[in-house]
Amino acid sequence: MMILSIETSCDETAISIVETDGEFPHATYKVLGDVIHSQIEIHRKFGGVFPAVAKREHAVTLVPVLEKVLASANLPSQPETSITPKQKEHIGVLLSREGDLANALLTFSEHNKAPTIDLIAVTHGPGLEPALWVGVNFAKALSLLWHVPVIGINHMEGHIYSSIFTGEKLADLAFPAIALLISGGHTEIVLMRDWHTYELIGKTRDDAAGEAFDKVARMLGLPYPGGPEISKKAAARREKNIPKTLTLPRPMLESGNCDFSFSGLKTAVLYKVKDSSLTEDDKEMVAEAFEDAVTDVLVKKTLRAIEESGAQSLILGGGVSANRHIRASFTHAIQEKLPDVALYLPEAKLTTDNAVMIALAAHARFSAYGVTDEDIIASGNLSVSNA
Ligand code: KG4
Ligand code: ZN
Repeated sequence: MMILSIETSCDETAISIVETDGEFPHATYKVLGDVIHSQIEIHRKFGGVFPAVAKREHAVTLVPVLEKVLASANLPSQPETSITPKQKEHIGVLLSREGDLANALLTFSEHNKAPTIDLIAVTHGPGLEPALWVGVNFAKALSLLWHVPVIGINHMEGHIYSSIFTGEKLADLAFPAIALLISGGHTEIVLMRDWHTYELIGKTRDDAAGEAFDKVARMLGLPYPGGPEISKKAAARREKNIPKTLTLPRPMLESGNCDFSFSGLKTAVLYKVKDSSLTEDDKEMVAEAFEDAVTDVLVKKTLRAIEESGAQSLILGGGVSANRHIRASFTHAIQEKLPDVALYLPEAKLTTDNAVMIALAAHARFSAYGVTDEDIIASGNLSVSNA
């Protein structure tokens, strides 16, 4: 089947077209088009993502991104599907809050016939609610325009699928599996006893791991997004092999459960850096100590979750799983302590937000549940346990 997927939960406007061949979970996937428009440059000026700015940017970018992805996939057109005045009106209502998006889409539809798509998938949470709504309403409008069903997908479920995607197929996952999802908005440990079942067994009580990276980066005067910046500084320090003199706290390490807390760690950095002008050396030292502390907590809590659940697989997903030190530490810890557990790390280009992962999750969801009549609602704090 041919799936067109849309992702607008945060600061990337992404659409992909993925062709599936065969039955889930043994299908083969061909990515025919994958376009990501990043808003990072816009948000960098503000030092973070503003939902209203993100929403406006998605509304401006969605049609150009759609045109691009359709051009790269080059799909045949559906037999003539005309658009009635009633449909036009309905699309206008759906997109009435999104500025010029309705006009852009209607102009697009006058010049482009409906492509042969079988299913539209759209992220409906979690994320920035105004940003999610643009994607959801756009997907509904396309569904009307093209006479194609649409389903809502959980962004975190998408991250799980991107980590087990080999580029062509899904890994032959052994259950139970533990997924550690670390992104800008979430830090969650999820237990999967089988496909389509998600039990939240640990989460952050305050900041998400990525959020802590972003906030600490800001304290060090580094640009948004902070994760890659901290990672670079820490890597530079590690290369110099300087003995470590700074140790930051490991919050909740001994809490006896799988929950996290990163705000104390962030405050510890704040005390360390406030009132002092930081040299390059200082920044590298703090970055390394911070990365060490976050990694230590993530690894220990996750290993605990694996041992408690008897998991046979570990999946790392979300933007923070791009971090090289975190990836290397998990690889090492699993080899040393739990060599029978299969570790799945996302390919570098699939670590951050993208629409391919939404198409993969959509295929899984469609195989299990088909298309339901339920209206798709954008939900900022949708939990993966509802997926
Ligand atoms: O999954 P994602 O792209 O978006 C959300 O769903 O939130 O994750 C973005 C987060 C940001 O906080 C960013 O700083 C972090 O991922 N990130 C990293 C790295 N690359 C991105 N954090 C640590 N190290 C990295 N290399
Ligand atoms: Zn994400």
